[in-house]
Amino acid sequence: MASRNDAATGSVAEKIGPDSARVEISGLTKRFLTPAGEVFTALQDVSFTVEPGQFCAVVGPTGCGKSTTLSMVSGLDRPSEGSVKVGGREVDGVTDGVSFMFQSDALLPWKTVLGNVLMGPVFRGVPKQKAQASARDWLRRVGLTGFEDRYPHQLSGGMRKRVAMAAALINEPKILIMDEPFGALDVQTKAIMSTELLGLWEQIRPSVIFITHDLDEAVALADRVVVMTSSPGSVKAIFDIDLPRPRGSVQEIRFQPRFIELQHQIWDSLREEVERAYARTAGGTA
Ligand SMILES: Nc1ncnc2c1ncn2[C@@H]1O[C@H](COP(=O)(O)OP(=O)(O)O)[C@@H](O)[C@H]1O
Ligand SMILES: [Mg+2]
Repeated sequence: MASRNDAATGSVAEKIGPDSARVEISGLTKRFLTPAGEVFTALQDVSFTVEPGQFCAVVGPTGCGKSTTLSMVSGLDRPSEGSVKVGGREVDGVTDGVSFMFQSDALLPWKTVLGNVLMGPVFRGVPKQKAQASARDWLRRVGLTGFEDRYPHQLSGGMRKRVAMAAALINEPKILIMDEPFGALDVQTKAIMSTELLGLWEQIRPSVIFITHDLDEAVALADRVVVMTSSPGSVKAIFDIDLPRPRGSVQEIRFQPRFIELQHQIWDSLREEVERAYARTAGGTA
C-alpha cells in the first residue's frame, strides 16, 4: 500500500488508479415487490460509467432510485437485470476498496473520535500503533487535531462530518460512494465541507459517485453530472463539467460565468423531472 506521503505528493497520473477503479453500470433494472404484492420498477435500464479517478455526481428528483443504484454498486443489493462491474468484475457482494458516506453519520456513539477513525485500519489488520498514527494524521487533515478524545455527541454536525470523512478516506479507497453526505448541514457548513472534500479527493483521487439533490453542489464538485428521470429512474442526460481543477472554494466557483452556464443547462434537463415527480406526489399517486 502506498504510504500517506506518496499519496500526498505523487502526480495525479500516479494517483488515478488503474482500471480496478472503473465502475460500469449497464442496463441496470431494479424491481421491488410492494406490500400489496405488486411489482414496482424503481430503476429502468440505467447505464453509465465512472472512469478511474473521476468524480461523478448523480442528480434526480427524490424517489427516482439514486440510493437504490448505490446499493447495487456497493454490493448491498442485487440488480433484477443488468450489471454493475467494478474493475471489470461483476459486483457480487461488498467490494474491497470501497468506502461510503451517507447523510446520517455512521459514527459509533460509544467510541471516541480517534476510535471511530481507527476502525477501518484495525478491521484490515493494520497494527494498532500504526493505525493510531494514521488516524491522527487523518484527523489533522480534516482539521480535528485536539478533538481525538471527544465523543460524537460532543461535536457539531460539521465536525461529525469531518470525522466521517476521515473514517472513509483513511482506508484510501479506490472508490468512494457518497449518498447526500452533506444533505443535513446548513448552507455555509456544507460549502466548507464540500471544499475540503475536493481538496482531499485531489490528494488520493478515488473514483467517486456522489449523490445529491443540490445541483450547485454537483456542478461545483464533479467532472460529470448524470441526470436521472423521475421514477422509474433512468439516465436522462450526462453533462461533462469542464471547469478547471483545482477548483478551490466551492462558494466562489458559483460566480464564474461557465459555472452559471452549466448550472442552467443541467437545470433545464432536471426541472421537468422534478416537476413530474412533484406532481405525482401531490396527486397522491406516488
Ligand atoms: N427495499 C425496497 N422495497 C420496496 N421499494 C423500495 C425499496 N427501496 C427503495 N424502494 C423504492 O424505490 C424508489 C427509489 O428509492 P430511492 O432509491 O431511495 O430513491 P432516491 O434515493 O432517488 O430518493 C422509491 O419509490 C422507494 O420507495
Ligand atoms: Mg436517496
